[in-house]
Amino acid sequence: MEGYDYAKCIEMSKRARWDMDKDVIRSREFDLSHKFLPDGISKVDQFGFLNEEERKFLSQVQGRTYSNMFGFVERFIVAKILEITRGHWLGDQIALEALVRFCDEELKHQKLFRRIEPMLAAGMPEGYTFPHQPDAVAAAVLQKSTWAVLVLILEIELFTQEHYRQSIEPDENLSPLFKDIFFFHMKEETTHALMDELELLREDKKLTPMERDRAVDELIELVGAVDGLLQAQSKADVDYFLKVRNPLLEKGQIDRIREGVLKAYRWQYIFSGAEHPRFTKVLGGLITENQGKRINNALGLMR
Ligand SMILES: [Fe+2]
Ligand SMILES: [Fe+2]
Repeated sequence: MEGYDYAKCIEMSKRARWDMDKDVIRSREFDLSHKFLPDGISKVDQFGFLNEEERKFLSQVQGRTYSNMFGFVERFIVAKILEITRGHWLGDQIALEALVRFCDEELKHQKLFRRIEPMLAAGMPEGYTFPHQPDAVAAAVLQKSTWAVLVLILEIELFTQEHYRQSIEPDENLSPLFKDIFFFHMKEETTHALMDELELLREDKKLTPMERDRAVDELIELVGAVDGLLQAQSKADVDYFLKVRNPLLEKGQIDRIREGVLKAYRWQYIFSGAEHPRFTKVLGGLITENQGKRINNALGLMR
């Protein structure tokens, strides 16, 4: 973070910029002979009682949800960042440009994730659902303080990069198109996380200790809402998997899949970001020990 400012973010954003058709999709389709999400993210390798085909399909179902989740959270990310630009309208025009680019990129990402959903659906049996309403959720998120929402956005934009570098990039057996989508996505997310930090520190300075304390509660509420969504989606995804694949399983094994997929989703969207060293450093620098304990207690309930 040291040495990064909005001018640097603009420069990085220009270098990372890609085109959806020319760079990412390149007239390709998803090849279902490959996994979508690597085991490091899907954690399907824990289900040794499923055969390889079944594990591969479960990784593809999770990959479809992974893509939908990004398209979904990016709705409130754009809305919040656009709202934040107001603070720069009549001031730092470099900051304004950097944040406008951020929003432009997230709008493009949403378009990409909307575009690939029917492409993913084409190779899978009917019955998959992702019923969450991005506008309704964004409206609810925007009711929370900017501080709380920015902490959540930082968490998301850090884990996006972490997942790619740690697990997607080194896996040679993933669908090439799926891998490329998250390569290009990660490239533009790098500057977003830097801007999240700049804006979070800026916002933090405006708060009184009492306001920050309230914002910590709101952050806990937001993470709780994310967890509610993960519980619903992991159930929907496992139901879909069991229905269309109908693997011969004992009750205990079905329970293990349900628990394992929920745990994987909590790791994907909550813990891999909340435990990211950059995230703990930034958030730790803003809150008191007691506030840190409250957050950890709330996270402990999701383990
Ligand atoms: Fe994005
Ligand atoms: Fe982003």
